[in-house]
Amino acid sequence: MTTHAPGATARRYLMCEPTFYTVSYEINPWMHKDQPTETALAVQQWRRLRDTYLDLGHTVERIDPIPGLPDMVYAANGATVVDGIVYSARFRYPERQPEGPAYQKWFADRGFVTHTAARINEGEGDMLVVGRLVLAGTGFRTERSAHAEAQELFGHPVISLELVDPHYYHLDTALAVISSDPADPQVAYYPAAFSAGSRAVLEQLFPDALLATERDAQALGLNIVSDGQHVVHAPGAVDLAAKLRERGYDTIAVDTSELLKGGGGAKCCTLEIRS
Ligand code: ARG
Repeated sequence: MTTHAPGATARRYLMCEPTFYTVSYEINPWMHKDQPTETALAVQQWRRLRDTYLDLGHTVERIDPIPGLPDMVYAANGATVVDGIVYSARFRYPERQPEGPAYQKWFADRGFVTHTAARINEGEGDMLVVGRLVLAGTGFRTERSAHAEAQELFGHPVISLELVDPHYYHLDTALAVISSDPADPQVAYYPAAFSAGSRAVLEQLFPDALLATERDAQALGLNIVSDGQHVVHAPGAVDLAAKLRERGYDTIAVDTSELLKGGGGAKCCTLEIRS
């Protein structure tokens, strides 16, 4: 069994400052229109998250927020980028649909080859790269047929996983990639968020996976960002953080409580650009 973190590799992230953040519609069980949000606090927490990445030596690119798109802060949903190829997002709910072309334009303007999705998919929210594989969620947002579209585009095996609990509506709320090292891929996940068949698949693929507790999951504790050594997580992911430290990872708690009101955490705010 692996007991060591493989070590950090420099990452390139895309983020969107939550200038227009609020909860004005409800498309997941965490969102409550009646609960007040504090945009200034969201911005402050977001900047702290960005500074954490910069301090770790990563590159953070920025996309301009657009008024009327309060969920644009959740950059992970904007696209999936593998080997420099951009698979654009196509959102399920009308409230978020303009985000897909906005993110696609950001990439096209910078010379990336972008592919306009034919199928509904919510970017890295439902597509997580681990080694040579792409793990892909379905059940609430991304269509299963998008998994096939992504496989054809990227030429990497895409493994479909069925989400069954509406609180964990995107794969990145239920499963975290801790190490994407192809020689030693490592994940953490919350078993109750998956169908029985998908749990069996995860057990076969990742017998050493870290299993999150209900307490971790309820803090959106799986919504974490790892560079192979440092793991940025919500302060509430207490059990998972302890298990990560046992395996030699350095855990960094960053409070994203204001962004949790929209149903997201650190990973949701972070789109990885893989060249
Ligand atoms: N309010 C957003 C939605 O429901 C939150 C998205 C969170 N992003 C993520 N990658 N899980 O679509």
